[in-house]
Amino acid sequence: MTLKIIRNGTVVTARDKYQADIRIRDGKIEAIGVQMDETDAEVVDVSGCYIFPGGVDPHTHLDMPFGGTVTTDDFKTGTIAAAFGGTTTIVDFCLTNKGEPLRSALQTWHGKAEGKAVIDYGFHLMISEINDQVLEELPQVIEEEGVTSFKVFMAYKNVLQADDGTLYRTLLTAKELGALVMVHAENGDVIDYLIQEALKNGQTDPIYHALTRPSELEGEATGRAARLTALANSRLYVVHVTCAEAVHQIAEARNQGLEIWGETCPQYLVLDQSYLERPAFEGAKYVWSPPLREAWHQDVLWNALKNGQLQTIGSDQCSFNFKGQKELGLGDFSKIPNGGPIIEDRFSLLFSEGVLKERISIHQFVDLVSTRSAKLFGLFPQKGTIAVGSDADLVIFDPNAKRVISAETHHMNVDYSAFEGMEVTGEPVSVLSRGEFVVRNKQFVGEIGSGRFVKRKPYSVSVQ
Ligand code: URP
Ligand code: ZN
Ligand code: ZN
Repeated sequence: MTLKIIRNGTVVTARDKYQADIRIRDGKIEAIGVQMDETDAEVVDVSGCYIFPGGVDPHTHLDMPFGGTVTTDDFKTGTIAAAFGGTTTIVDFCLTNKGEPLRSALQTWHGKAEGKAVIDYGFHLMISEINDQVLEELPQVIEEEGVTSFKVFMAYKNVLQADDGTLYRTLLTAKELGALVMVHAENGDVIDYLIQEALKNGQTDPIYHALTRPSELEGEATGRAARLTALANSRLYVVHVTCAEAVHQIAEARNQGLEIWGETCPQYLVLDQSYLERPAFEGAKYVWSPPLREAWHQDVLWNALKNGQLQTIGSDQCSFNFKGQKELGLGDFSKIPNGGPIIEDRFSLLFSEGVLKERISIHQFVDLVSTRSAKLFGLFPQKGTIAVGSDADLVIFDPNAKRVISAETHHMNVDYSAFEGMEVTGEPVSVLSRGEFVVRNKQFVGEIGSGRFVKRKPYSVSVQ
């Protein structure tokens, strides 16, 4: 039995902010109050700090083969970095191959995480085809495997892209089974044409990655996915929204009463398309799909977070070294592996750029980085809040600490930071996962492999 009392902190949830002590017994929050009996307890004084629910990152790619290589962060380094950054639960994307049983793909992903993760984790399942075998397996995936969200790629032609028929049938099946469908919304067919045209014209630099994926094609795909969702009477979660066109489609669909949710990521809130023009091929460090946009889109995204048109912040953690991996695209931007390292900075960037710059309230911050994802992905109230009976996943956060982001000091296994030199205010000092310190006074004290797979509940309208 372990008993801890976290004393003198300010508890902040998606709804409330108040001074209280938290008693933790055997990994769960047992009580929240004042003047608690301290007999047999380890007492931890956190005066001057906020206590946030541990971050829930709904979008990570750890140890994932992609773009002819594999992401550098695996479930060990990726989850250690996540914990340093205030995240205590991730939901990672399990890729599938056509013809392979879904459960075999899930076994592969379990094999990547087991014995390595230091925080809890779940999986989303990629759907690349719908056939009798897949339809037979999906109920078990939900009920037995606890995997209650499916991902369909509308882009990456000839690699991950699924057609509209597959998306529509996935939406129908998900509705029937109680799952949530996620989409990467870009028009992959038109993008493929634009890429081939650019290369034919000798346009090979990283900036052409952005110029061949215009925001209209993200807006178009988002609107198409929304219409198919309406037709299927289903529900939809749009990952990594980057632009005004996509926000507009989501807002319109929500105004019509559709259950559509949108996620954006820190990189789209603070970086812009001009980063892809950096000399000496440095622009490759800023290659994401969808791409970074012109700076004016950032205001649209911040407003959408403030007024509830977008509801979550994912990291889209997908790290590749500059040396040897991003460099695969020297002379051909289409060969640059897409993605970047963000898992460690998601939480602090949103606090610093969002709360301290008064773009969002502190309660919206908690909702965006933790609570809403826990609710949408069947983890709430076990995760995503500070309440009696919830897992004691807690972030002890110093709101005044200043830190300069740098690859020299980050814990991700990658040779650059997309935010190199940026100062953020506010930093996780200590982080607990199920009542045990993973990070204590900015030192890693966790146990490799202590993270557990979390079976998630089906999608439920009632908790949204
Ligand atoms: O560029 C990105 N976003 N890489 C990760 C894969 C994806 O599309 O989410
Ligand atoms: Zn994507
Ligand atoms: Zn992603």
